Amino acid sequence: MRAVLLALALALPLAGGVALAQTAPEPEEPSILPAGDGQEETFYACTACHSTSIIRRSAFNREQWDGLMDWMVEKQGMNPLEPAARRQIVDYLAQHFGPRPAARGRNPFRE
Ligand code: HEC
Repeated sequence: MRAVLLALALALPLAGGVALAQTAPEPEEPSILPAGDGQEETFYACTACHSTSIIRRSAFNREQWDGLMDWMVEKQGMNPLEPAARRQIVDYLAQHFGPRPAARGRNPFRE
């Protein structure tokens, strides 16, 4: 019975289930991430454990995102990504959530 309930709890939000909508937070959709190659892959690989907000507020270069994948696997229990998927996801993250200009100390009003 517990397994059935667990399966339901996992399946319903994925199916856009109505029954849990009142108690569960709004389910996120891939479109919450910027459009681009790797958007869906990133969404589905990364939202198994946390929402995208932790990703969207981050600003890392490619090397840092790549290192984060190791950290996520070693310390957080993420399933290792296939090399091709990892490349695509890290490329996507670095392109859309790279270091922000302000973080490098540039003043846009002086350029
Ligand atoms: C197996 C579960 C799991 C998966 C899958 C996962 N994460 Fe995480 N992630 C975590 C946990 C746990 C934390 C730590 C949350 C905290 O500190 O409260 C975390 C933290 C983070 C952080 C914050 C790091 C920091 O402290 O600055 C980022 C960014 C992040 N994850 C990105 C991703 C991305 C991108 C993916 C997809 C490639 C992903 N996560 C997939 C479990 C996961």
